[in-house]
Amino acid sequence: MNRLDGKVALITGAARGIGAATARLMAEAGAQVAVADVLDERGRETARAIEGAGGAAIYVHLDVTAEASWQAALAAVTGRFGKLDVLVNNAGLFLGKDIESVSLAEWERLSAVNLTGVFLGTKLALPALRAAAQHSAHGSVIVNLASTAGLVGSTQDPLYSMTKGGVTLFTKSAALEFARKGYRIRVNSMHPGTIDTDMGDQVLASRARNLGTNDIEAARRQVVERLPIGRMGTPDDIAKGIVFLASDDAAFMTGAGLVLDGGITAQ
Ligand code: NAI
Repeated sequence: MNRLDGKVALITGAARGIGAATARLMAEAGAQVAVADVLDERGRETARAIEGAGGAAIYVHLDVTAEASWQAALAAVTGRFGKLDVLVNNAGLFLGKDIESVSLAEWERLSAVNLTGVFLGTKLALPALRAAAQHSAHGSVIVNLASTAGLVGSTQDPLYSMTKGGVTLFTKSAALEFARKGYRIRVNSMHPGTIDTDMGDQVLASRARNLGTNDIEAARRQVVERLPIGRMGTPDDIAKGIVFLASDDAAFMTGAGLVLDGGITAQ
């Protein structure tokens, strides 16, 4: 189950957090992986750790907001591994500000990564994904990291929620367009709840500010109390779902979302 033998995957924002866990688990599942990020030192360490454990990994510098950066990264990946089967649009920023306090510059930075980055990745990786799909039993795959904030409204992060809502519907539209054109590329979204990563820490810091206390542990307790499953998620909880979406076990799934949120959106 969930094997990726012979597959080549590029994961954006993979220096740390959910992306790094995804790169590690994909390599364990048999894929050759490209760890792509703007954090070069941390990204190289992540790729080295995967290789140290017997996996096949390279690090590529990639700023998802820049077209030329995508072209260089994709050339490096196909140059090294010969093809691209799986793209995970994972790079993302969080912005825990309400509508009254957010600035235009903050919105532009957020949307450049969370929206433009997903659009550019999908458009520019398409030729390589289409080519690989011709030699694969169930075609190629794109997985987009949305969020529970892309499914339901957010009481505290309206701009972040706007970007993730965009990713949710872009995923469905891309899946439908590629199916209509016969490209054999499945496109699905992943919707994590609150996950223990650097971004998870930023979420807790923002909740603490909103509580007026700056008490991160109090904010963590409040977040966990609202989670039916009683704990925050780990990067591996989400990475396992992404590996499933990338694998042929999800061959009948496209234009859909996988919600891994500890039950938060069930209530
Ligand atoms: P993180 O902050 O730990 O990692 C994000 C990575 O993206 C970092 O390595 C960062 O350097 C990279 N990145 C940022 N801007 C970039 C750019 N312009 N080009 C390339 N890479 C860039 O975040 P985490 O938690 O691992 O999140 C991964 C994805 O999951 C994001 O899209 C996030 O919105 C989403 N998500 C996270 C949740 C959480 O609670 N941690 C919940 C729901 C969704």
